[in-house]
Amino acid sequence: MTRRARRAAVLISGSGTNLQAFIDRIQGGELDIDLGVVLSNKPRAAGLERARRANIAVECIEHKHFPVREEFDAALVATLDRYEPEIIILAGFMRILTAVFIDHFAGKIFNIHPSLLPKYPGLNTHQRAIDAADEWHGSTVHFATVELDGGPRVIQGRVQLRPDDTADTLAARVLEIEHRIYPAAVALFAAGRLDYHDGCAWLDGVRLDEPLQFT
Ligand code: GRF
Repeated sequence: MTRRARRAAVLISGSGTNLQAFIDRIQGGELDIDLGVVLSNKPRAAGLERARRANIAVECIEHKHFPVREEFDAALVATLDRYEPEIIILAGFMRILTAVFIDHFAGKIFNIHPSLLPKYPGLNTHQRAIDAADEWHGSTVHFATVELDGGPRVIQGRVQLRPDDTADTLAARVLEIEHRIYPAAVALFAAGRLDYHDGCAWLDGVRLDEPLQFT
């Protein structure tokens, strides 16, 4: 019996290279999800053009029209619900989401954060890793909860810092690895192997206390 591909939505604010990685995997037959909508909070996000080129429906809801975070989140929910997504993929979506959004899609929301969480939640992660003279930096895919960059981790990819790294050179190497780990995590979820419940991530029924490591 063939299983129906799970419906997904990708939320972006910017260039959308992670979105492009998803589009490429889907078009290449390596990722079996039905990407029904791409939503941005910025009308000029370059990622929207990537979605249009791939014939994916686009939606734009500008947060600046909503004085209260919860009202913005309620608008996101109302729009996304029309597409009945079973997977929500936050891919460079630069808004903090409240319980209005998180609870509605509980257990179905992924985020990618450019650091080896729990190190460096929040912004400027590349510069912070450089300033701390870390040996390793990278990115983490995790289930999103109301705690910013704090939900259960699923997979991490690492890059080694170089002496001449700037935030930009480091960010470029991190992005390359993001394009591999993010579709990999979503593929596990789409295949029914990865799950979120009781505040934890579970892989093949076993609690994932440490994230998978991508090498
Ligand atoms: C990525 O580095 C991601 O980790 C962060 O925002 C960036 C998005 O890049 N949350 P892109 O828009 O996918 O190119």
